[in-house]
Amino acid sequence: MALTTPLDLVAGARPNFMKLAPVVRALRAEGKLSFRIVHTGQHYDTSMTDVFFEELCIPPPDVHLGVGSGSHGAQTARILEGYEAHLLKCRPAATVVFGDVNSTVACALAAVKLGVAVVHVEAGLRSFDRTMPEEINRLLTDAMAERLLVSEASGVTNLRREGVPDSKIRLVGNVMIDTLLDQLPAARERAVARGLGLLPGRYGLVTLHRPSNVDDPATLRRVVDLLHELARDLTLVFPVHPRTLAAASRAGIAGRLVPGQERLICLPPQPYVANLSLLADSAMVLTDSGGLQEESTVLGIPCLTMRENTERPVTVELGTSRLVGNDQDRIREAFAEVLGEHWPRGQPIPLWDGKAGLRVARELATWLGPLAA
Ligand code: UD1
Repeated sequence: MALTTPLDLVAGARPNFMKLAPVVRALRAEGKLSFRIVHTGQHYDTSMTDVFFEELCIPPPDVHLGVGSGSHGAQTARILEGYEAHLLKCRPAATVVFGDVNSTVACALAAVKLGVAVVHVEAGLRSFDRTMPEEINRLLTDAMAERLLVSEASGVTNLRREGVPDSKIRLVGNVMIDTLLDQLPAARERAVARGLGLLPGRYGLVTLHRPSNVDDPATLRRVVDLLHELARDLTLVFPVHPRTLAAASRAGIAGRLVPGQERLICLPPQPYVANLSLLADSAMVLTDSGGLQEESTVLGIPCLTMRENTERPVTVELGTSRLVGNDQDRIREAFAEVLGEHWPRGQPIPLWDGKAGLRVARELATWLGPLAA
């Protein structure tokens, strides 16, 4: 018998949507649990949300909280208040949250305070850098979760060290890689780079949006200067996050990130399939995104991770990523190593196999199943 009280699956920001999609697909395929999709509205531009729902065939949200942007406190508070009001009207069997964005922690807090069990997908990741808003979100969400579903082995070690009992932890693998493997044929067919006049393997892909790289005007100016310099040796394609564009305007350099340049090709934020197409055909990636570190590892593409730490250490230990911070010399050196083909090859990561969504769905059914009896 199916559990009739639905689960809430919560998503709010761009990186949530590719994690949500495989779980939705698996829950439907298994048919044991019903669910509602709750969109907080943390991201709201069509290019940051709607296109992901369409491309990844995620059904439209059942509930939309429409919170929009704001300071961390204001945004988190609006999500907390909005989701609590929803919970009071329709209490779910459990609340499933993904990743480490403000929507994740806010909805987990609203749920746990009302005695609704929280499931965290992508639990246990730690950068050990508490200046990152995402690290705070991860720590707090994991402290509140009843079920902690982990993407890589380091997450299990971290949670045990924090005293989480093994009975709450499951290593299920990486749901985002399910989406990557599912969409890769469509992405290859799309051949976005060719449409830009670029040959596969003859350009690099850049994404930047972390506060540590874009918020300080002097740092951002240095990073953008460096990108223009590197682009003389290898054309760079740079889909610019709205946050980065706003920071560039404040730093007086928005004119250096405009479309129409020949070597540093700046684009608006790309839909999922187009971005994957650009990634799959690239020679290397320069990024501060957690998702791209993982995706480039799976595709065997060298990844210069422009951070001093990572909550995804497996991408450095087994994968193709190296931490280069935003130090110009370290980046130049790593860039030259990739061009000289001296970059280490990565290895496959355990459980990043396209079946993590199914393991999540089965885990949820095993855990909640007795309630349906
Ligand atoms: C959020 C996540 C980050 C994730 C990133 C991916 C948190 C703390 N951060 O950062 O972990 O890697 O999403 O994109 O949750 N904006 C728009 N349109 C939108 C959304 C945002 O223009 O649809 C602009 C606004 O100026 C906004 C700024 O981007 O103030 C930041 O948005 P916000 O959701 O606060 O965080 P992100 O930087 O996107």
